[in-house]
Amino acid sequence: MSSVRDFATAKADRRRLVMVTAYDTWSARLLADSPVDCLLVGDSAMMVMHGERDTLGATIELMVMHTRAVARGAKDKFIVTDMPFLSVRKGAAYALDCATRLLNAGAHAVKVEGLRGHAYVVKHLVESGIPVMGHLGLLPQSVHAVGGYRVQARDPKGAAQLRADAKSFADAGAFALVLECIPQKLAREVTDAIDIPTFGIGAGAGCDGQVLVLHDLLGLNPDFKPRFVRRFADGAAFVRGGVKKYAAAVRSGKFPAPRESF
Ligand code: KIV
Repeated sequence: MSSVRDFATAKADRRRLVMVTAYDTWSARLLADSPVDCLLVGDSAMMVMHGERDTLGATIELMVMHTRAVARGAKDKFIVTDMPFLSVRKGAAYALDCATRLLNAGAHAVKVEGLRGHAYVVKHLVESGIPVMGHLGLLPQSVHAVGGYRVQARDPKGAAQLRADAKSFADAGAFALVLECIPQKLAREVTDAIDIPTFGIGAGAGCDGQVLVLHDLLGLNPDFKPRFVRRFADGAAFVRGGVKKYAAAVRSGKFPAPRESF
């Protein structure tokens, strides 16, 4: 993916899209030549990298720092960065300032959670030349308002609201939409109803693409395994195994060897 136009083409061609999170240069380098379409500098960095219980503490300074680190490692990947908590609720000028800082740090687009009450901000960003990815369903930045990390839009009223919000995101000019933790039937319906591609996470196979947290799909977080995560590797065992071998080699005097010394 080199521009937002490629996302539209992928949807038209029914080519499934793959997005994964990245927060640092190390992982970005590994992902740079991987077959993923784009990287998400998610504010989940707050939980995954900083051990917080939610994403609310992700400041613009922190998101700029993580974006810069990812951009250094993956020069040719399309990078989307989360707008931090409440940054789109402080008026269009403030949001534009935050988005500008993220794009200057290396992002190609920003992601905005929710739409009600700040659709005009999304429109303002888009009309200012900043590509916006929307995010509906479970909105982690609203975790305390919805009473936890739970499936959303199960009832007819919630589903109707989500359908309307998805359409409004597309009308406001968003180039793609994340659908998080909603019933798969609704996700498919929304995907079919709008022209922009959808990325599901806990939203079933009917979306145009999928997004997962890198650490979750690599099995690097042994204490976290929600239903929608599939572990494609046992990263925790890999890391622990490597460190165990290192410690044993040091203690037995086998590391460093003469060829590893000067
Ligand atoms: O912050 C994040 O990682 C996200 C994904 C879960 C979509 O928003």
